[in-house]
Amino acid sequence: MIQYNKIRCGDCIDLIQTIPDKSINLIITSPPYFQQRSYGGFQKEIGGENEVDKYILNLSQLFHECVRVLKDDGSIVFNMGDKYDKGNLLLVPFRFALSVMQTTPVKLVNSITWVKLNPTPRQFNRRLVSSTEPFFHFVKNDSYYYNINGFLNTSSQIKSKKQNVTNATGKKYFEMINNSNLSDCEKNKAKEALTKTIEEMRDGKIESFRMKIRGLHSMPFGGQEGGRKTQILNNGFTIIKLYGNKIKRDVIESPVETIKGINHPAVYPQYVIQELLLLLTKKGDVVLDPFLGSGTTAVSCKRLGRNYIGFDINPDYCKRAEERLKGINGEEDLREWLL
Ligand SMILES: C[S@@+](CC[C@H](N)C(=O)[O-])C[C@H]1O[C@@H](n2cnc3c(N)ncnc32)[C@H](O)[C@@H]1O
Repeated sequence: MIQYNKIRCGDCIDLIQTIPDKSINLIITSPPYFQQRSYGGFQKEIGGENEVDKYILNLSQLFHECVRVLKDDGSIVFNMGDKYDKGNLLLVPFRFALSVMQTTPVKLVNSITWVKLNPTPRQFNRRLVSSTEPFFHFVKNDSYYYNINGFLNTSSQIKSKKQNVTNATGKKYFEMINNSNLSDCEKNKAKEALTKTIEEMRDGKIESFRMKIRGLHSMPFGGQEGGRKTQILNNGFTIIKLYGNKIKRDVIESPVETIKGINHPAVYPQYVIQELLLLLTKKGDVVLDPFLGSGTTAVSCKRLGRNYIGFDINPDYCKRAEERLKGINGEEDLREWLL
């Protein structure tokens, strides 16, 4: 019997053995990056290997176990950072992804790019500052749970949702209505409908619109006939509203987070984790993070009504993650702040 909503301290490769086959909906994690830093120098700590291949081998051992414990319709998401060796970018995350795809029965759905809006401010003369990291989304087969409507968009897209409506918006249509040969009653109705549509645009309910007026615009043809033609003939006008369904891109923009009181050196952003939880799980699902660190995955799960299981090798991080979780009371969608 697995205990949900618990943090367990120890080596993740040992601890994952206690989880039954096909019992987890999502594994989402960020392993220690290759030769980046020590998290306390524990014996089975991952990341300090001398060779990239050895690092990938150790991580792959965990990955194989992740596949075992994953439900058939579940997902595995690994976030990894890269490493330069004497000016040479090693492509560690991609080597890892290729390796597990060759040795485990998984498919790679996306390499989702986290764009860091505030990368560490450094100046290199001979290369650009790295400001992206992949989140690899793996599945076992094509029946994986996927709620595309749960995934919003990047933060910059959310901010631009409210359209820029000025005094000039719709002006040409008001002039056209005045100059048209519609009756006074039709003109009033057309202006009223136009004003309402501009309001909808201002509120972000529609992205844009087009208006067609009898006598000024050509009549609909081909597939555009039908209701619109009737509207123009009967009312003197029609308004075509553009809802602008946003393309769901494989990009998530978010700043690197520093959280007051959290002294973990490699916290990943709650915003990114929340997007992926909403895309890949339902309320009540079980989420495992084998490298829990400061507890970001668990905190996001608690906020969104998902169950979590977290492991970390460093007892101090486990304790602090528990404390961080105590501060989360009830559910909250972080995106409400952005809308
Ligand atoms: C990149 S950090 C994860 C940070 C986390 N995503 C967060 O937002 O706080 C990697 C974590 O893996 C832990 N770790 C390293 N080797 C481990 C192992 N063998 N088993 C479990 N945890 C390990 C480290 O202590 C560290 O906290």
